[in-house]
Amino acid sequence: MLKLTKALFCAAAFSMAGLAQAADPIVIKFAHVVAENTPKGQGALMFQKMVAADPQLKDKVKVEVFPNSSLFGDGKEMEALLLGDVQMLAPSLAKFEHYTKQVQIFDLPFLFNDLAAVDRFQQGPRGKALLTAMDDKGIHGLAYWHNGLKQLSANKKVIQPKDARGLKFRVQASSVLEEQFKAIRANPRKMSFAEVYQGLQTGTVNGTENTWSNYESQKVNEVQPFFTETNHGLIDYMVITNSKFWNGLPEDVRGELQKIMDQVTVEVNKQAEALNQTARQKIIDSKTSEIDPLTPEQRQEWREAMRPVWDKFSDEIGADLIKAADDSNKAS
Ligand code: LMR
Repeated sequence: MLKLTKALFCAAAFSMAGLAQAADPIVIKFAHVVAENTPKGQGALMFQKMVAADPQLKDKVKVEVFPNSSLFGDGKEMEALLLGDVQMLAPSLAKFEHYTKQVQIFDLPFLFNDLAAVDRFQQGPRGKALLTAMDDKGIHGLAYWHNGLKQLSANKKVIQPKDARGLKFRVQASSVLEEQFKAIRANPRKMSFAEVYQGLQTGTVNGTENTWSNYESQKVNEVQPFFTETNHGLIDYMVITNSKFWNGLPEDVRGELQKIMDQVTVEVNKQAEALNQTARQKIIDSKTSEIDPLTPEQRQEWREAMRPVWDKFSDEIGADLIKAADDSNKAS
């Protein structure tokens, strides 16, 4: 009798442990380096909210969002993803060169005329193929998210490429972006995003390049009196996950997460431009800085000065891939 009770007790305890285990949600830590009121910040929160509200996922998956480099910043986040310390990131496309040379394509100056061209390339076969280009390294791309086109900022008025000569510009960890500034005889300095404000404030660097939403949300206008509206390049993101983690998810969970990611992507990409324009207006309203637009002739001068960078990276990236991206400027 005693034996039977003990056996029953053990069975009950075992099945309760099983239940507790089944009830433990899968935690997805989603870390990023920007503020919440930016396209990526909003996208991460939207993803979190939609997963929490999804009837199929709400008890199974919990998304935790860490903005502003609060969990991992540039330099550490990719390693953390590979170690399984974080499950989702959305690094800027400039931050992948150690894992794939092809993704460097997005850093080529004056490649895309506008975000519609970017969309045509990213959603086309060549762009989509890049999402899986790092699978062999354990990194799987789930989507592209827009931020927008880059503008220049500096501690002096910069209208022509020659005005930037000798200035130190902060760049992301990208060889293409280093070469872009060398092409106009400026001095690029690689620096993580979290250090940009201080770097500009203390004069470690004199200028930088970014989107309006990143400038405004980091208060860069407090330390940069001049912005030049160059639209010379792109800041977009690849939402990535650890391949092993992703492939280890139950199939139905993975499918539903991808479905939500696709819906969020449509929304982020729809809203990004408006967020940047709102941020631009806020900078104007703050009266801290001057925003200088360029005439088409002035912009052409920048294009010609920076364009040689394409040839430098054509072998690494692939001339055919560059052509496919350039072709996306022609509306289909
Ligand atoms: C930067 O480092 O300048 C940006 O790419 C940060 C970001 O994620 O938008």
